[in-house]
Amino acid sequence: MPENILVAVAWPYANGPLHLGHLAGAYLPADIFARYHRMKGNQVLMVSGSDMHGTPITISAEKEQISPEEVASRNHRGFLESWQKMGISFDLFTSTHTENHTQVVHDMFLTLMNKGYLYKDTMPSAYCPNCTRSLPDRYIEGECPYCHSTNARGDQCDECGKTLNPNDLINLRCSICGTSPEIRESEHFYFKLSAFSDRLEAWAKEQSQWKPNVYSFTMRYIKEGLRDRAITRDLEWGIPVPVDGFENKRIYVWFEAVIGYLSASKEWAQQNNDSEAWKQFWQGDSRSYYFIGKDNIPFHTLIWPGMLMGYEGLNLPYRVPANEYLTLEGKQFSTSRNWAVWLPDYLERYDPDPLRYILSVNMPETGDTDFSWREFVRRNNSELVATYGNLVNRVLTFTYRNFDGHVPAIGELAPIDNALLNTANETLNNVSESLSNCRFKEGIKSAFALAQEANKYLDEKAPWKAIKENRDDAAHTLGVVLGAISCLRTVLYPFLPFSSEKLHSLLGSKGAITDIGWDFEFPLTDHALPKPEPLFTKLDDEEVISRETAKLG
Ligand code: MF3
Ligand code: ZN
Repeated sequence: MPENILVAVAWPYANGPLHLGHLAGAYLPADIFARYHRMKGNQVLMVSGSDMHGTPITISAEKEQISPEEVASRNHRGFLESWQKMGISFDLFTSTHTENHTQVVHDMFLTLMNKGYLYKDTMPSAYCPNCTRSLPDRYIEGECPYCHSTNARGDQCDECGKTLNPNDLINLRCSICGTSPEIRESEHFYFKLSAFSDRLEAWAKEQSQWKPNVYSFTMRYIKEGLRDRAITRDLEWGIPVPVDGFENKRIYVWFEAVIGYLSASKEWAQQNNDSEAWKQFWQGDSRSYYFIGKDNIPFHTLIWPGMLMGYEGLNLPYRVPANEYLTLEGKQFSTSRNWAVWLPDYLERYDPDPLRYILSVNMPETGDTDFSWREFVRRNNSELVATYGNLVNRVLTFTYRNFDGHVPAIGELAPIDNALLNTANETLNNVSESLSNCRFKEGIKSAFALAQEANKYLDEKAPWKAIKENRDDAAHTLGVVLGAISCLRTVLYPFLPFSSEKLHSLLGSKGAITDIGWDFEFPLTDHALPKPEPLFTKLDDEEVISRETAKLG
């Protein structure tokens, strides 16, 4: 029975291009996972979209003197292009600025309101007399009441990681001009998260499949006490509040963005002319996996589940495989200091697979990891090119030249052949086990170990020598090693889809690579081979390193 799997991926703020940290944090692991499950024959729905609202976008729009919608749409188009070039295979990547999303958000809002989970209360709201504007949470700075860092923001303290309300801060100041803001009372809606405290705790306790950091983070939050959350704001840009008297307010961006997973699933269903199809991923026997960065954990393990509990009838998250952070050349990514590798820029000069490779072997899965250009070039040259690419190229070129462009017939399998083919079969199982459990590094390492085994086999059998005395034995060796290569095409496909597709055609296979499923073709006898081409390109270390590091900072 195919499983139903919802792959829900964090919605990026449409406030600037994506960098490698975003990719490693959420999009790449989600894509690897989705491709693997599709290959397994499972029903996968992978959705996300641009988070179009929120204050950073209005601030950018003001600076550029264009509308927030223009800023957000431009970045949204950029995201779509990056996904396509990076091979991030969304079933739908939509945005929060759609009619459908507004409807779904209003339905959630009104349902929670009618069930008594929303209430109105006044909230002191900061107003900067110098900038003459209400200050959203992110634009208020001050001292953190917990760790006393002086650079906490009104939504969160980056130093100790606590989520905050602006009025928790000590000594408020406007982050734009430094003036201390006036506090005005304003009426807002609150979500009664506290009402779900016991249920959330009981539920979270059962999630033994969660990563330890996700589990402990969530438990710590619950222990500290879940507070009700204001879910409207004094803003003009965003989703209107569906209640009279709230015309000048908007729904808080976080409250509506998480609903995007559901609205995108509904939009996908409508596009596929089966408006009920989303239910197969949200109700009954289906599992949902939320791929996010660690700063998003409480929204996905507490607030969104709390909303779903209140709404009733929809599945709660099954796993929230939040990643830690990627650093760049030893330092945190920072847009303002231009300490970043931007995806569109990377894609202008390099292929997607080398980046997918290095971010997979070095994924910040259980702790922070670092990306450096030196390591990028080293791994490209000594692992992709030398271990995997050369194996494929040696075998294909030799076969093409000596066997008339056809995979030759194999003879009877000897123990050494069986050992390699058994390793291939075990690799299918191991990678499968790793990927189903969201252990991506482990998965790609097992896949690469097969390439190493195949290289050893080839060196030992040395068909380039055998061809002179025993042509059949050389043919047999090539046939067997092509079996292992055909398995590499499959096990590496989730990680390196472009080179696997290319290998698929270099092997002369018919149909789509996904038709093979989580399996491999053996023997490939009689496949007509096209003229071989290398899978990867060697990079010049000094050239790449000096060009790329010069751009930083
Ligand atoms: N745009 C936010 C972020 O990137 C929220 C992403 S997840 C969502 O951190 F589900 F809330 F949209
Ligand atoms: Zn100000």
